[in-house]
Amino acid sequence: MDESPVKEDERFSFARFAGHPFFKQVNAWLVSHSQIDADSAVVDLACGPGAVTELILGELDETLPGACVYAVDPSLSALALARQRIRSRVVHFVQGTAERLATLVPQVDRVVFANAVHLIADKATVFDQIFRSLRPGGVLAFNTTFFQGAYPAGTQRFYKLWVLRAMRWLVSQGHTVTHGAKATAMQWLTVEQYREVLRSVGFADPVVAMHEKPLSAESLQDIGSFSLFIEGALPGVPLEIGAEALRRGVEEAFEELKLANVPRNWLQVVVQRPLNPTAG
Ligand SMILES: C[S@@+](CC[C@H](N)C(=O)[O-])C[C@H]1O[C@@H](n2cnc3c(N)ncnc32)[C@H](O)[C@@H]1O
Repeated sequence: MDESPVKEDERFSFARFAGHPFFKQVNAWLVSHSQIDADSAVVDLACGPGAVTELILGELDETLPGACVYAVDPSLSALALARQRIRSRVVHFVQGTAERLATLVPQVDRVVFANAVHLIADKATVFDQIFRSLRPGGVLAFNTTFFQGAYPAGTQRFYKLWVLRAMRWLVSQGHTVTHGAKATAMQWLTVEQYREVLRSVGFADPVVAMHEKPLSAESLQDIGSFSLFIEGALPGVPLEIGAEALRRGVEEAFEELKLANVPRNWLQVVVQRPLNPTAG
């Protein structure tokens, strides 16, 4: 029997990885430091299946006029999952990309942009769109674990072995991997490059924090079953097969390297649109 579209989408959605406690911790830190007031208007940019939308809602008093969330994502399947998960009259789901944000939402007090900035090829355009979408004095909070500095010393060998073992399994099963194919844009910037691009569009100096979290084999297998991750790691490989290759790859790499977990850094950034344009 065919699976329903939502069930099928769930298999390759971000929701499984987003269910791990460390993921909630990094996002809870980000949301709590974005200084959301009970009556704020907030954009949850790249909301995905809605884990961060829930955290934002926790900061709002839904009975107050003004309190609202615009949950924006280009993926209809992610929005469908988020809609299923969140029932609130103050959440408005909007299909669209960060590159067009200022045309999709009215000006707001806060923009939370969790775990997606690395997917953006043209970061200057997106930060400029976010700047325009914020009222003067408004705050942007974003985080990512795909930046130069994400791998604590000694952990890089795990990632190399993971992909090598996944590829070996694919080849043993007669599958081909398209070398050089460029799937999802995965731009890993340094912290300094982030500072520079934020400054260039007019933001004030950011508050920057780094949080290290231990990733279990299970959590890595869960990120390895997320469609955008599979497309980035194994371009051209069908999702079903790619997820299985990455699952086996984690298992083998953990065994060979005798790992209990793999520590990983999250970059957390909170930055303000200055009240006075000349003050930035
Ligand atoms: C890893 S998920 C993060 C979801 C959520 N923010 C969280 O932290 O749980 C990344 C999301 O970015 C979205 N995305 C990809 N390209 C985008 C773009 N150009 N503009 C806005 N969102 C984008 C994807 O559809 C996906 O839902």
